[in-house]
Amino acid sequence: MKPPFLYQPFLLRCLHGITGLCLVLAMVTAAWTYNTYDGRWGQLPLPNYQEIEGIHGTFGLYTLLIFPAFVFYAFRRGHKRLGQADSLPQLTQKIGTPVWWYTLSRCVNTVTLLALTFALFSGKMMDEKWLPQGELDHFWYYGHLISWVVMGVAIALHLLMNAKVGGIPFLLSMLNSKFLAQDSPKLWKNHILAWWSNTQLSSWSDPISIMSKRPKLELIIWFSLIAAWLISLTKELLGLLNTVGI
Ligand code: HEM
Ligand code: HEM
Repeated sequence: MKPPFLYQPFLLRCLHGITGLCLVLAMVTAAWTYNTYDGRWGQLPLPNYQEIEGIHGTFGLYTLLIFPAFVFYAFRRGHKRLGQADSLPQLTQKIGTPVWWYTLSRCVNTVTLLALTFALFSGKMMDEKWLPQGELDHFWYYGHLISWVVMGVAIALHLLMNAKVGGIPFLLSMLNSKFLAQDSPKLWKNHILAWWSNTQLSSWSDPISIMSKRPKLELIIWFSLIAAWLISLTKELLGLLNTVGI
């Protein structure tokens, strides 16, 4: 079974690559943070390194900052690689056929986006003081730990599905750094300007109708990301007011 093509758009490779790299670093440093401060479900023989929590927070934050660009791309130019409205009937009807594997692989792509949204949201609900103070029973700490497991399973399925539909060459096509002339980063500025002028033409005066045309899953991701920032900024502001005695 061969994938439809082995050339991946360069913008996809950049956004996918940066998100993936930051995420993998966040997950490795997350495991080390767990190892240093917790270890209730097993421990690896790693050195106890207290600074790892801050390093994890930094990689988590980098992932949170690049993720919106990837989501924006995935639900527009990359939308065909995500689960579609007819994915569910296809998954129940054509089990084991090539179409079935492609559909499943695209649904798993969507699941990775949702898994990462959950990991980033629960990360923003964390308080950096909990683990150093030995407070390991917070609701959001458990949520954040579970998000690591969910993310690990999602990435494993993502790699397995892509290996199944296209083999190792398909997986490697995502890591290749060569690009075609029409895909050159030099043209990105013009693409962005053209997109912006089109968007302005289609009037911002009616945001409800713009939102109603977007996929529900995309809206859930945007609302979660915005809520994560608003909740954590509100908590910080309240903490600040508390320390100055207001
Ligand atoms: C080294 C690790 C990875 C490899 C080799 C890899 C490989 C691939 C490949 C080959 C595709 C194209 C699939 C298709 O055409 O249907 C793809 C798409 C995708 N990958 Fe990964 N992936 C990796 C890590 C990740 C991670 C960590 C995430 C988590 C966010 C992720 C999320 C996605 C998504 C959402 C798409 C669809 C993008 C679109 O809509 O255009 N991948 N990946
Ligand atoms: C997929 C896995 C994970 C991702 C993507 C992730 C991401 C994040 C993000 C975005 C933040 C907020 C950073 C900020 O606002 O500055 C954060 C904070 C935090 N995470 Fe994770 N995290 C993951 C797993 C874990 C795990 C398993 C632990 C267990 C020890 C953990 C421990 C923490 C702690 C203690 C904080 C607060 C530290 C700080 O804000 O500096 N994370 N994480």
